Amino acid sequence: MDVMEAIITRRSIRKYSEGQITKEQLMTIIKAGCYAPSAHNRQPWHFVVIRNKEKLRAIAGFHSYARMLPGADTCIVVCGDKERQPQTGFLIEDCSAAIQNMLLTVHNLGLGAVWCGLYPVIHLTRGMKQLLSLPEHIIPVGLISIGRKGEERTAPDRFDKSKIHYEEW
Ligand SMILES: Cc1cc2nc3c(=O)[nH]c(=O)nc-3n(C[C@H](O)[C@H](O)[C@H](O)COP(=O)(O)O)c2cc1C
Repeated sequence: MDVMEAIITRRSIRKYSEGQITKEQLMTIIKAGCYAPSAHNRQPWHFVVIRNKEKLRAIAGFHSYARMLPGADTCIVVCGDKERQPQTGFLIEDCSAAIQNMLLTVHNLGLGAVWCGLYPVIHLTRGMKQLLSLPEHIIPVGLISIGRKGEERTAPDRFDKSKIHYEEW
């Protein structure tokens, strides 16, 4: 798939059908995350892969906008390492760039995914830290719920030229 086509046709997919994603697909998705740009090239990301249904249900229990998770095959929690990138703003941007790369790769593989935010919502980061036994210096930035597509969504028109400013506002 051409890059622009992938960017425009990617949609958040929250309904999934039966069937697993393969180990190879999982590795391709994570590899895409690792090729994101990062401030000072610190690459502060870590990826926690969750496939255990009880854990998926536990996350949906405290994250009211992640109720799709028990229906997903896999959840990847993208975390940032404060020891590698002490500037929290950069750490969040780096991990977010990784997440977007991963979403586009999921789409290119014909699978469906949605990004669910964690940081900076305190009860979500705290809940995730506890559930996954994350060390103190690791911030859970966001999670990706991934599965075989159970819905099709079309591309909206989002190109609004009034948002472009030349030389000044
Ligand atoms: C930082 C961030 C947090 C998000 N959190 C959630 C979430 O918790 N649950 C959810 O269903 N979607 C979440 N989304 C997905 C957005 O709702 C979605 O991207 C938006 O509605 C646009 O739809 P699209 O992805 O199909 O273009 C999040 C997206 C971002 C970038």
